Amino acid sequence: MIKKIFFSEIESTNDYAVKNIEHIEDKTVIIADLQTKGRGRNGRSWHSEKNNLFASLVLKPKCSFCDMQRLNTIVHYTAVILSRVFKKKYGLSTQIKWPNDILVLGKKIAGILTENVIKGESFQGIIIGTGVNLNMDEDSLKKISQTAISLNMLTGRETDRDEFLDFFLEEFFLQYDDFLKKGFLLIKENYKMLSMVLGKKVRAVLPDKEYCGIAKDIDDKGQLILDCYNKEEAINIGDIIC
Ligand code: BTN
Repeated sequence: MIKKIFFSEIESTNDYAVKNIEHIEDKTVIIADLQTKGRGRNGRSWHSEKNNLFASLVLKPKCSFCDMQRLNTIVHYTAVILSRVFKKKYGLSTQIKWPNDILVLGKKIAGILTENVIKGESFQGIIIGTGVNLNMDEDSLKKISQTAISLNMLTGRETDRDEFLDFFLEEFFLQYDDFLKKGFLLIKENYKMLSMVLGKKVRAVLPDKEYCGIAKDIDDKGQLILDCYNKEEAINIGDIIC
């Protein structure tokens, strides 16, 4: 059973989930109409105007059941699920920019920020923060630093947030138990098919260094394998510039 907690305004649904994780049940979604301090990956902010989706799913799997390495690729799993929602419900083809940006026509439509919460020695849970541009206009899109697009522009009609969210949750939990058992291998081929970076010359910007090379493969841990001419590099953090 999925539980939902709604806010009309909040700083960040992820922050709320991190702070309150001890009191939040497994499979609870925190949803806000508006975020005043929405966070993106790598310390960026997430522009969070009304009528879009800002949701954080709190999961507390038993970790004897799934090791942390498998759980870390839940970000890839979520990206594949979001792509399925766009395809099945709206007939739209998406691409995934490693690890978890969802793009349509080369422009970003959704992003995912996952956070493991560990207190002391104990794993409290994982938070999957999802932001989707559902209803934005050209002026609002200009406020986003990356080139972005919104679902309403692609369908020609306003998007119902709750309908989108319910479809996403349904798709997510269809294979969630399998994902906990099999990890990235469950969706690896889907993920690779949706990848916009494979085969391209890219730059990987890590916190302390950069690599240039051809994006050659995604390995079983969800890492991006770069062929850097005389050496292979397995990338597991940072941003990819195509
Ligand atoms: C990215 O940088 O692409 C990830 C963006 C994630 C944004 C979502 S919106 C809901 C949740 N709350 C946040 O503060 N961030 C995530």
